[in-house]
Amino acid sequence: MANISKRFGTLLANDHVDFEVAPNEIHALLGENGAGKSTLMKILYGLYQPDEGEIRVEGQPVRFEAPADAIAKGIGFVSQHFSLVPTFTVAENVVLGYEGGAVLNQQQMYQAVTDLAKKYGFGINPAAVVRDLSVGQQQRIEILKALYRSCRVLILDEPTAVLTPQDVESLFAILRELQQKDLSVIIITHKLEEVMNISQRVTVLRMGKVVARESTAATTPQDLARAMVGRNTVAVVRNVEHQPTPTVKLAVANLHVTDKRRVEVLRGVSFQIHEREVVGIAGVAGNGQSELVAVLSGTLKPTEGQMRVNGQPVQLGSPHDFHRHKVARIPEDRLKGVISDLSVAENLVLEQLDDFTAAGHLNHRQIQDLARQLIADFQIKARPEDRIGTLSGGNIQKVILARTLSREPEVVIAAQPTRGLDVGATEYVHQVLLEQKQRGAGVLLISEDLDETLLLSDRILVMYNGQIVGEFAAAEADVEQIGLLMTGATVSEKLNVESEK
Ligand SMILES: Nc1ncnc2c1ncn2[C@@H]1O[C@H](COP(=O)(O)OP(=O)(O)O)[C@@H](O)[C@H]1O
Ligand SMILES: [Mg+2]
Repeated sequence: MANISKRFGTLLANDHVDFEVAPNEIHALLGENGAGKSTLMKILYGLYQPDEGEIRVEGQPVRFEAPADAIAKGIGFVSQHFSLVPTFTVAENVVLGYEGGAVLNQQQMYQAVTDLAKKYGFGINPAAVVRDLSVGQQQRIEILKALYRSCRVLILDEPTAVLTPQDVESLFAILRELQQKDLSVIIITHKLEEVMNISQRVTVLRMGKVVARESTAATTPQDLARAMVGRNTVAVVRNVEHQPTPTVKLAVANLHVTDKRRVEVLRGVSFQIHEREVVGIAGVAGNGQSELVAVLSGTLKPTEGQMRVNGQPVQLGSPHDFHRHKVARIPEDRLKGVISDLSVAENLVLEQLDDFTAAGHLNHRQIQDLARQLIADFQIKARPEDRIGTLSGGNIQKVILARTLSREPEVVIAAQPTRGLDVGATEYVHQVLLEQKQRGAGVLLISEDLDETLLLSDRILVMYNGQIVGEFAAAEADVEQIGLLMTGATVSEKLNVESEK
């Protein structure tokens, strides 16, 4: 891929990217969330067309208008979201939609899939119904599907994100097997450990650009982490005014959560937040942050653990009790935080309807008055009667802030509070969060943007694989060290040993 650029509106998702894969190579494509990895691979698979640049397969320029064109040139793609038909058998799923040559009867189809599975060493029963298979097994079917279409280059988009550690080992064994059988593999990941373990070369993307391309043996996890998160772009205004007090606002102890895959996604999380303190959680998405937010919002009951606000126990999994203890949350998905068919005024009072109800009737005058007040206080560019669905992302976020923060919460849980907002709205959200701190609240900030976390936090906790693996006072925070911890390097000695191998 030469000089590939791709825009989404004003966003440059791929910025003049050069990317190549050699025969028999496992090539890791590394980068933080939003770096442009999936976009680049969707271009290679014909799902997106580049605005600029050229793709060559074995030296020949090609144009991929659709995945069928890419498949015809030997490109296979296993996306983060599987596209299997749950009620079909393994063999049916593998063959489905591919009329490569002769029409097969049932028996030929099962034979073909059996042979293929045997050739690549897959332990799979072609007659099994996909619905009954584990996630790891389903992923293997997706790989078989690509192999059935004779792919020479197999792209895997964050294949390990959905797997247990044991499944990761079997996947890697399969990838090594494919390599032996002359395939090339591109594996997208944001885990350094995996890059070091499986790849021969690595390309690092940051903000749409290639920032490093190395032979894996010649690089170190430290170099890769630095390339991935960027150099220390120390923010000018740090949150230094108003020191936290010793009073504990929020204390959580020993939080454990086991998800539907029976994977433990929170593994004993404990921390405290003080009065006038912003605690930031740094981490690569998918390391338990969403579950932590859900637990601290009262929407997910952990399998184990306790929580106290101002020393009082809070009933985990009870949104009502969270409301009573004044735990406010700014949800990760702001569109889920509002009801788009309702007006701005109605959305503003959504959580305190009781206060505006007398004898079963809503007091609309009162609601309008409060709405006008909040619209002014929070600089929302809308009228009370506007449908919230018509507002910009920044203004929707302001409605959520107004609704949750006007109650003067004791604890604020802010999840990705500026994701997708423009610079102005982002600054406004930052200012409002610091105001909450100054008022005396304890604030938890969960953000994928490390610069934001550094800017706002008094203290930073690093989360990896469901655990807090590091803690830094913001004033002493070392971006490189945080970046390493974020990608699973718990002990620096271990990394040094690995990189010397
Ligand atoms: N279809 C799309 N429309 C608009 N923006 C998109 C689309 N796909 C990706 N983006 C944006 O492009 C950037 C890169 O996204 P992506 O390639 O998915 O990153 P990665 O896979 O590295 O996490 C992100 O800012 C993302 O929001
Ligand atoms: Mg992606």
